[in-house]
This record gives sequence, C-alpha cells and structure tokens, in this order.
Amino acid sequence: MKYCYCVALLLALYHTVVTADLSHWRIPRAPRAAAHRLPYNVLLVLPDKESNNDKFGLTMEKAKPVIDIAIEDIIKQQRMPPNWINLTYHDSRYWEDTSLAERWATTGVVEAYCERRLDAILGFADSYSLATVAKVSAGFGNGIPILTTAGLTSQIGSKKNYPYLIRMQGSYRQMADSIYQLIAYNENPIVNYNLNTKYKNLVFMYHDKRRAINRQLITNASNGDEADSVVSSHCYFSLYAIKNYFAEQGGYFKEAWKIQTPSVAFDEELKRTKEDVGEWLKIASNYANGGFLQLFLDSIIWVIVLSENSVF
Ligand SMILES: *[C@@H]1O[C@H](CO)[C@@H](O)[C@H](O)[C@H]1NC(C)=O
Ligand SMILES: *[C@@H]1O[C@H](CO)[C@@H](O)[C@H](O)[C@H]1NC(C)=O
Repeated sequence: MKYCYCVALLLALYHTVVTADLSHWRIPRAPRAAAHRLPYNVLLVLPDKESNNDKFGLTMEKAKPVIDIAIEDIIKQQRMPPNWINLTYHDSRYWEDTSLAERWATTGVVEAYCERRLDAILGFADSYSLATVAKVSAGFGNGIPILTTAGLTSQIGSKKNYPYLIRMQGSYRQMADSIYQLIAYNENPIVNYNLNTKYKNLVFMYHDKRRAINRQLITNASNGDEADSVVSSHCYFSLYAIKNYFAEQGGYFKEAWKIQTPSVAFDEELKRTKEDVGEWLKIASNYANGGFLQLFLDSIIWVIVLSENSVF
C-alpha cells in the first residue's frame, strides 16, 4: 500500500507529455498536440525521515527506488526516450513538525515553479500539505497535476478546489460506503448481506489528539499556538467520512445525527488506566441512549473504535 508509486502512476504522467519529435518512439498520438520540451520536470515531496507523525512511514528513501524502477520500465518499453524525466526532491519536514510541514511543502513547490522545473508533483505524506499545495498549484500555468498515495480524507475529493489532484488509493468515502452497507440501519439497502440486525445506535470511539477527552490541560492556550499545532488524526477523518456518508443517504441517520454525532475521542498515546477506559465507555454508552450494561447485554449499540496504532 505504501509503495504505490508504480508504473501506472508514471504512465498517467506520460499521457500528459506530448513531444514534438518522438516519431521513432512507440508513442500513440495524443489528441492535444501541445509541444512539451523534455525532460519532464517532476518534484517529489516527502519527508526525509520516518517519524511518529506519519503513521504510514512513507519517506523519500522508500519511495525513490520504486519511482526509479518505474522510470526505467518506461524507457525499456520504449514508451519514452532516456532522460525523459528530471526528478527533483523536496523534504516536507513532516518528521519535524506536523503543522509546519504545510509551509515547507508549499515553499518547495513554489520554488520549483519559479525555477521552471515543475510540470508535475508526486508524493506527500500528510493531507494538510497535500491540500494546501493542491489548491495553490492548480493556479500555476494551466494547472500542475499531483499524483499521490495520501489524501484519503473526503474533503480533498472536491473537484472545484483540487481539480488536478489524482489520488492513487481512493478515499475514506469508499470505506464509509462499505461500513454503511455492512452495519447501518438502512431503509433501502442496495446490497443485501442477509444480516438480520442493522444498527441504529452507533457510537464512535476514536483516537484524536485534538479532541481527546484525556487531553492535557494547556497553560498557554490563549495564544492559539497549541490549538493550531495539533492536527486531526486519520481516525477523525475516517469518522468524518462515515458521518457525512451516512447523513447523505437520508433517512434515519440524517435525522439522528442532525445536531450531534455520538462520539468520544481519546489520545491513545497518553497513559490511561482501566478505570479511565471504563469511564469513556460509559460516556459513549450514554451518548447512544443506552445503559452501560446494555452495551454488553443486548448488543443494540455498535461501538466503532478507531485507533491508529491498534494499542487500545
Ligand atoms: C534537472 O533539474 C535540475 C534542477 O532544475 C537541474 O539543475 C539539472 O540540470 C536538470 N537535469 C537535466 C538533465 O536536465
Ligand atoms: C507558555 O508561555 C511561556 C511564556 O511565554 C513560555 O515560556 C512557555 O514555554 C509556554 N508554554 C507552552 C506549553 O507553550
């Protein structure tokens, strides 16, 4: 999953390149004959080092060889001539700081554009940098294509805001659809899984530092630094996609979750006791209009627990 920079990705790029004099290469004639001088300049934006910030562990060092092989394959297959691509690299410094990575990533992309070495962008380990860069670079020239394995969050699906973004791994929205078909109470099911029970009482318990119930008290919160520097987790974005998808289907969940979606967020990286977890479950249970015991006695409540490190 992490190594999805593959031939397909570069083929997608190749289809956007059309050169004037390449008749001896086996290149199908493209409909728009806009001349493009080779090499094709591609910027790879990724963190240089692994860190706890990136749960997928995606780094420059890991992605480079995969891309190199794909470039070689395309040359071997004579789809493009040697030296057709000039790859440059930019460290997003996501390993250093999750919120400042947005700045470093964007700066690198703007520099590459100003130096006229930006025909396409690959990479990104975090959705925030990806979102900012994708929004801005859509306005450079005729728009710069971005190919990424990140950006699973449903917000990035907007074609208005991110017209040149190509996500190689789909999005959390597709996961939300599966969960809906599998467990949600649904008046008009499209797929019949033959499950007798469909659930109406759903509570989300998920890892998120920003909204965590066990979040540590912050002394200097008034300067805005702290609130800003904690980014939302993958779990939060998954939940967000599920919540929106369920509500879009209309019917029961649209009404039930109109004001609030029952959820309890916790920080799985902080120390906690068994009693703490019991307390959180009680809260979750109350949100779902159930007694604590009911949770175990008549499984009418479905608790969706989302964790990034599966240590809960
Ligand atoms: C690739 O791009 C870099 C940065 O713009 C440049 O210094 C280098 O000469 C280029 N290489 C080729 C083969 O065009
Ligand atoms: C709170 O503010 C003080 C003074 O500006 C600073 O020295 C301290 O490091 C801050 N604490 C945090 C947690 O940011």
